[in-house]
Amino acid sequence: GKVAVLMGGFSSEREVSLASGAAILTALKSRGIDAQAFDPSEQPLSELVSSGFTRAFNILHGSYGEDGVVQGALEALGIPYTGCGVAASALGMDKFRSRLVWQGVGLPCVPFIVLRDDSDFAAVEKELGLPLFVKPAAEGSSVGVIKIKQTGELAQIYQQLKQFHGEILAERAIEGGEYTCGILGEQVLPSIRIVPATEFYDYEAKYHRDDTKYLCPADLTASDEQYMRDLTARAFKALGGRGWGRVDFLRDVDGAIYILEVNTVPGMTAHSLVPKAAREIGLSFEDLCVEILSHATL
Ligand code: DAL
Ligand code: MG
Repeated sequence: GKVAVLMGGFSSEREVSLASGAAILTALKSRGIDAQAFDPSEQPLSELVSSGFTRAFNILHGSYGEDGVVQGALEALGIPYTGCGVAASALGMDKFRSRLVWQGVGLPCVPFIVLRDDSDFAAVEKELGLPLFVKPAAEGSSVGVIKIKQTGELAQIYQQLKQFHGEILAERAIEGGEYTCGILGEQVLPSIRIVPATEFYDYEAKYHRDDTKYLCPADLTASDEQYMRDLTARAFKALGGRGWGRVDFLRDVDGAIYILEVNTVPGMTAHSLVPKAAREIGLSFEDLCVEILSHATL
């Protein structure tokens, strides 16, 4: 049957989704799969049924597409789809509530504080230390992430961010390295170390610069590599994840490893991470797309 590649959408990551979707469409078609683009910002999802689609490859990043909304609609329409179900998607998009689950099962998360209008901002700066990161709880691709280096800036930056982004977190800066592990079905892919030329792996570094270095295999000892892959599987499982995803990590200067977040609809652009890790185990981009689609379910 026909496969809808759900792409575009309404979130701040719309452009990323269009790039991911274009790459996936080309890959699926090259393997003889009848795949067509479907942008829910142009057509209502209910038209999937009348247009004769029997499966959906969901590559909508961010709110609406990655947070359980589309997943719930597809459940209601009876169209099998790639990736996580409703609950895992909703939790995964929320950096506060996913960490509550992980803390609850004893997994190490980056220390953070949820900011509110009546927060004692000076106390937050003191507790987390400087520099620190301020970020929306539910965005992707580092949209809205700001690194603060000076005392006294937190309150104002919080006020600025919350106008556009809902819940806001302050997070300890952990500066020994950024890592990520993809997950494909039951398999955790080799870790990748990301070495941005910028201050951190921000939106520019992710999509517009070519000077970020990616190490895959990464630079971890065999036991740390195993530990990170175990954490990936456990973090994904704790949220009820399925199909595919990517868990991001930070490593402290003392070597301690912390879960940063999960992405339940990871990027699939030419710059993206899961395709790099897949290549490392001998899966081409086309193989990867076919494999993700094979896990589509209700
Ligand atoms: N949120 C982007 C798409 C990623 O995690 O790859
Ligand atoms: Mg993310």
